[in-house]
Amino acid sequence: MTSRPFVWLRTAFVIGMISCISTNSVAQATYTPTAENLAAREWFQNAKFGIFIHWGIYSQLAGGGNPGGEEWIMETEQIPIDKYERLAELFNPVKFDAEQWVKGFKSAGAKYITITTKHHDGFAMYDSNASDYNIVKRSPFGRDIMKELKAACDKHDIKLFFYYSQLDWHHPDYYPRGRTGQVYTGRPEEGDWDKYIDYQNTQLKELLTNYGDIGGFWFDGWWDQKNGNYRDRWRLEETYKLIHGLQPQALVINNHHVTPYAGEDVQPFEQDLPGENSSGFNTTYISDGMPIEMAQTMNGSWGFSLTDDGFKSTKELIQTLVGAAGRNSNYLMNTGPMPDGRIQAENIQTYNEMGEWMEIYGESIYGTRGGPVGPRPWGVTTIKEENLYVHVMDWQDSLLTVPVKDASVISATLLRNGKKINFDVTPTGIAINIPEKELDEWDAVIKLTMK
Ligand code: GLC
Repeated sequence: MTSRPFVWLRTAFVIGMISCISTNSVAQATYTPTAENLAAREWFQNAKFGIFIHWGIYSQLAGGGNPGGEEWIMETEQIPIDKYERLAELFNPVKFDAEQWVKGFKSAGAKYITITTKHHDGFAMYDSNASDYNIVKRSPFGRDIMKELKAACDKHDIKLFFYYSQLDWHHPDYYPRGRTGQVYTGRPEEGDWDKYIDYQNTQLKELLTNYGDIGGFWFDGWWDQKNGNYRDRWRLEETYKLIHGLQPQALVINNHHVTPYAGEDVQPFEQDLPGENSSGFNTTYISDGMPIEMAQTMNGSWGFSLTDDGFKSTKELIQTLVGAAGRNSNYLMNTGPMPDGRIQAENIQTYNEMGEWMEIYGESIYGTRGGPVGPRPWGVTTIKEENLYVHVMDWQDSLLTVPVKDASVISATLLRNGKKINFDVTPTGIAINIPEKELDEWDAVIKLTMK
């Protein structure tokens, strides 16, 4: 018996990290990430858990009683720009307290935050000189959300990522329009696409130069032009070079739902575990050469919803986080702050419960990679150094055979309390005896220490 499978797995992982060449780009054939970027990717994969924030002037309408509206309400209710802009004049989230947010997210166990700097409505939640359509220049609040959040993140050792919508329902030069933001917006029937991309890159440059080191960019909205002639006119190569030139460690993530393009550093999946496609728009292609991340809502909405009470249980969220880790993926869990700047009480309670779980089980999540046994109906596995963590989330019997062959197991313990459990190395794998009452846990984690 040897421990070779584990050595092999770690080697395969390192090789995977280095060969990050995408085959899908039209503009740029290859991309070689810098050393800083590779280190940031590794940090990212170790971090495993982040909080996504959808917050903007749309939060005031709270979905208008229609779950799913939220950050899309300009589009779903076909609100023209001249009316929608009034939301900026009304936006005054006086209870916003960046430090309180960050402390709350940190207590849930999150290591990073990804926040909407500009969503599809085009309104910037930071002080931009490229357009006065931003929180400092147009709202009575007049404070730069990103500045305050970055300061709080630095103080509490949390990394900050910026979500940025490539599509823009407000900018006249975002033309030709894609499949959204049509005539109702009141924009002219012409525009200069390249001028819009220049504008976007100017805004990105502001975000890259005015807020210190950031974790990276999370792009969204590419899909707006997916079926049109402008599908490949985003000048991605130039944009990605701008980012990596100014901040080599900044990770580029683009939620376009297709195979990653050269210059991207993380492949995201929306509302689905990587490889699954219940949402109907995810690709089932999973990169093995770059980190992956799944984003999910705590109810069904990204932005704050007045009526969406479909909150997932903490058990479900934890099991999804674990399922993601077992698939070698990060988990980005979303919250939609309220228009006054507070986070919903329901979310805060969930953070506390998640944090308690992470306190005990975090060892089997942080710093791990997906284990040698792929997802099974009973759960997943994760690995870290000489430890294999068996996450048993749905199993009725005390005996479970984990199909790892030729393993040399030194000890098996319940992660929760360190109690030894019986095991047997058989020709088909490691047979473990799980105490029956543990089977009721959200995730009975068995820690197998290998030679
Ligand atoms: C989708 C939605 C968008 C949301 C994003 C988050 O692209 O259209 O509103 O921000 O998902 O993953």
